[in-house]
Amino acid sequence: MRGLPENVQVIVARDAKDLASRAADEIALEMTLKPNLCLLAATGNTPMGTYAELEARHEAGTLEVSNLRVAQLDEYLGVSDDDPRSLYRWLESSLTRPLGVTTERLLRFHGNAADPDADCREFDAGIARWGGVDLAVLGLGPNGHLGFNEPPSPPDAPTRALDLTPASLESNAPYWNGLAVPRRAVTAGMNLILGSKRVLLLVSGERKREILRRALLEPPTPDVPASLLRGANLTVIADRAAWGEL
Ligand code: PGA
Repeated sequence: MRGLPENVQVIVARDAKDLASRAADEIALEMTLKPNLCLLAATGNTPMGTYAELEARHEAGTLEVSNLRVAQLDEYLGVSDDDPRSLYRWLESSLTRPLGVTTERLLRFHGNAADPDADCREFDAGIARWGGVDLAVLGLGPNGHLGFNEPPSPPDAPTRALDLTPASLESNAPYWNGLAVPRRAVTAGMNLILGSKRVLLLVSGERKREILRRALLEPPTPDVPASLLRGANLTVIADRAAWGEL
């Protein structure tokens, strides 16, 4: 695509299944280069196929994961681990348990933390101890958010607690079968995401086409946090439905 900086690579996948396989290829490559990779991992629907593909490769014995380290991208506030809306629970069932990531190789938020700010500081300290994020695997919010870095989020927005925007409350609602979406959340900061050695942005489906266009082609702005990724070592993996005629 014309107009993108050299640090941005684009892979257009045939469909969601092909996207999952291409994304798993990229993650597997990074894990080969660095077995104790620090992976900042999103929940949401888009990465689920990719995580299932990683699990399948692990089960087939073609993916070595025994040193993989995983950090949770974001979490709702006011939910405990046994709440069906816990994003930790979602990440655990889809990625960390299938890959056998042990607690010392897992960095997480606590949705029921008494002091969410302290939880955020602990998370940041954990990332720093691990030497920063090697690979961030992200979905794209329909409002351009990354994790719960809601618009506007400047590049130096830290790991923090915040109120979700109406757009995110709406886009998250389908996950929970009629249960209310929690109104507050914590997120890994834009500073951590943009400081990742590499970012994979996974984008699937026609409903993401317009926000993907804005993220890649309009001037970077905190009003579309994903547009700030153009300053990072970014690989976009989009399926044809999301890519359209871009
Ligand atoms: P999705 O969510 O993968 O379920 O589309 C992405 C996001 O809101 O960040």
